[in-house]
Amino acid sequence: MDAARRPAVAAPRSSIIETEEEVTDIVVAAMSDAASPRLRTVMESLVRHLHAFAREVKLTEEEYDLGISMLNRIGQATNDSHNEGILFADILGFSTLVCLLNNGNTGATETSAALLGPFWRMHSPEMANGGSLVRSPTPGPALFVNCKIEDAAGAPISGAEVDVWHASPVGFYENQDENQADMNLRGKFHTDAEGRFSFRSVKPAGYPVPTDGPAGDVLRAQSRHPYRPAHLHFLCFKEGFKTLITQVFVDNDERLDSDVVFGVTQHLVGDYQRHDEGAPPAPDVTAPWYTLDYTFVMEPGVAKLPMPPIK
Ligand code: BEZ
Ligand code: FE
Repeated sequence: MDAARRPAVAAPRSSIIETEEEVTDIVVAAMSDAASPRLRTVMESLVRHLHAFAREVKLTEEEYDLGISMLNRIGQATNDSHNEGILFADILGFSTLVCLLNNGNTGATETSAALLGPFWRMHSPEMANGGSLVRSPTPGPALFVNCKIEDAAGAPISGAEVDVWHASPVGFYENQDENQADMNLRGKFHTDAEGRFSFRSVKPAGYPVPTDGPAGDVLRAQSRHPYRPAHLHFLCFKEGFKTLITQVFVDNDERLDSDVVFGVTQHLVGDYQRHDEGAPPAPDVTAPWYTLDYTFVMEPGVAKLPMPPIK
C-alpha cells in the first residue's frame, strides 16, 4: 500500500534501551495509553519512585531477589484467616500514612480515624445497646464502654452502625484462639437518638502481631518488638458520612509510644478509668473494673465498607 493511503496511526515508540538512564522514561511512555487518567498518574509516580529508590540505594541483584521473594512470601502467607499484606504495610507505617492522608480534611486537622488492621470480620452479631461482647468464658477485668458519635459541628449522629472488635485480656482475637467462641469480643451496635452506643466487655491486653511470616523477619532484622498497645477497634458506618475506622488505646499501656504498626495518635488515647471500690455496675462484677467514655467525630463523605481482610 502506498504511504499516502495507509491509515494514520501513532508512530510506535521505541523501547529499545541504550542506557540505564533511559529506562524510566521508556517504561512511563509504555504505560501512557492507559484509559484512566488516575491509573496513569499513580503508575507513573510509582515507577519513577521505584526506579529512584533502586538508583539511590544502588540496589544489588541479591537485594532485588530478596525483595521479590518477600513479596511472593507475603502472598503465600495470606489466606482466609490471615492477611500478611496488610500486616506488612502496617509495620512500614504505610497504612497509617494512607489513613492520615485521607482523613481529617486530607491530613489538615485532627482525625478520629486509624488503621483497620488485619482482624476486622464482616457480619458481627447485631446487639442491643448495653449488651455484652463476651460470648464464651473470658477471664479478665470487666470493661463498660459508653460512646457517642458526633458530626464536625457537634451534632449527634443517630442510626449509625458500629462494629466493635478487640483482643482478649491475654491478647488473642477469637479467630486466633481455640478457647474463644466464634465472634467472641465482636459485635455490631446502632447509635440511639443522641448518637450514643454502649456495651460491656473485658479489658483487652496488648499483643504481638503475627511474626511467623515476612513481617516477622523484617521486625527481627530491625531489632523491633512486635507488640501493639491494648486497644478497642471501631468501624462506624452511616450514609452521608465517611466510614470511620478507628481504635481507642488504653492510656497506661507500656507500649503506647512504641506501637509496632504506628497506629497511636494523641487523639486516640482513651481515658480507661479503673474502679476499685463502690457499687459495681452489675451484680457479677468484681473489682477492679474499668469504664471508658469516648466521643468519635465522623466527617461528611461517602459511606462504604473496606474490603474485609479476613473471612
Ligand atoms: C490490629 O490492631 O488488629 C492490628 C493492626 C495491625 C497489625 C496487626 C494487628
Ligand atoms: Fe487490634
